[in-house]
Amino acid sequence: MIPLIKTSIPPREVLMPRLEQVLYSGYIAQGEVVEEFERKFEEYIGGGNTLSLNSGTAALHIALILAGVKEGDEVISTALTAEPTNVAIKMVGAKVRWADVDSTTGNISVVAIEKAINSKTKAIIVVDYAGIPVDVKGIKSISEKYNIPVIEDAAHALGAKYKGQKTGNHFPFTVYSFQAIKHLTTIDGGALQIADKELYEKGKVIRWFGLDKKLSRLDNDITFQGYKYHMNNVNATIGLIQLENIEKLIQRYIENGNYFDQHLKNVKGVELIEYYQDTEPSYWLYTLKVENRDGFVKMMADNGIMASELHKRNDLHTYLNDYPTELPNLDLFYSKMVHIPCGWWVTDEDREKMMTLIKQGW
Ligand SMILES: Cc1ncc(COP(=O)(O)O)c(C=O)c1O
Repeated sequence: MIPLIKTSIPPREVLMPRLEQVLYSGYIAQGEVVEEFERKFEEYIGGGNTLSLNSGTAALHIALILAGVKEGDEVISTALTAEPTNVAIKMVGAKVRWADVDSTTGNISVVAIEKAINSKTKAIIVVDYAGIPVDVKGIKSISEKYNIPVIEDAAHALGAKYKGQKTGNHFPFTVYSFQAIKHLTTIDGGALQIADKELYEKGKVIRWFGLDKKLSRLDNDITFQGYKYHMNNVNATIGLIQLENIEKLIQRYIENGNYFDQHLKNVKGVELIEYYQDTEPSYWLYTLKVENRDGFVKMMADNGIMASELHKRNDLHTYLNDYPTELPNLDLFYSKMVHIPCGWWVTDEDREKMMTLIKQGW
C-alpha cells in the first residue's frame, strides 16, 4: 500500500554517529545544540525568531499566551484542521468561535472571519491546511483593521510560500510541528516563529517553568505561569541533520503536487483545489475534491493506494464545539474532500499509476 503519510529519518550512517555523540556527551538537556538548531531554522525560514519546543501543541499554547488570550476570551478558528489547533485554545480557557472556509480552497475565509469577530475576540488562528497557504493578504488586512493578532498554524506547511517568502514571515506567530509524520521530524518537537523580539524573550521564559535561563536558579523569581515545553539536545541534533536535506525533501512534495495539479485538470469526477494568488503550497498531502468519495477511496485501496479525508471536522467534537455554527462551505468541501499520497516516497511510477487509475474512473 502506498501510504498517505510516512516518516522520513536520515540514513543510519549520517544520523547514528551524531546521535551517539550527543547521547554520550554528558549534555542531553536544552543546551547549545538547541540554540544551533534555532539559528539554522531561522536561516531556513529566512526571518523571525525561532523558539524551539517539544511539540507543535506547545507552540500553539505559547502563541495564545503571548497573544494575550485569557479565560473567557474567544479565538476565531477553522474546523478543518487537526484537533491540536483547537484543543490549544481550550488550554488557555478560551472559547472556539468557528469561521467557515472558502469552498474553493478549504482554508479559513476572510469574509467569515470578519463576520465572527466580536468584542471577545482576542486572536485568530489560521491553518495552512494540508500545506496550502492561507489568504495571507486578506487575513492581514482583517487583522490590521480590527487590531487582532493572527497565529498561523503552519504545521502542514513548512516551506510553503507567499510572494516568494516562506511561512513564518507573514504573521506575528507561526506554529510548526516536528512530530513523526511532518515534513521535518525531530521524533517529536515543534517551533514557534515569533516576529517580535521582546515576545520571543518572554516565550523563552514561558517554555521553562517561568524561569529565566539568563539568570542563575537562585536569582530567579517566577512571576507568571510557565511550562516544561523546551526542546532538548537530542531532538535538536536530529532536527539539525534533517535541516541539511529539507529543501530537497520538500521539493519532492512540491514536484508531485505540481504533477497532480497539471495532470488532474479536466478529469471527470475531479475538482481541483484553488490556491490564493502569489502562494506556493508545500503539499504535505495532495487534496482534491471528488464525486462519490467512498467509491474513490475504495478504488484506490483496491489498487494499493491509501486515500482518505484523514481529519475529522473539529466541530464534530463536543468539547471543541463551543458555539455550534452553520458552516455551509465546509459542509460542501468536506463532503468531497480527499487526500492522496504526495510526499517524498511517491515515485514517478507511483504518481503515474495514480493518474491512470483516477482517469479510468471509479
Ligand atoms: C494542523 C496541526 N496543528 C498542530 C499540530 C500539533 O503538533 P504536535 O503533534 O507536534 O503537537 C498538528 C499535528 O499533530 C497539526 O497537524
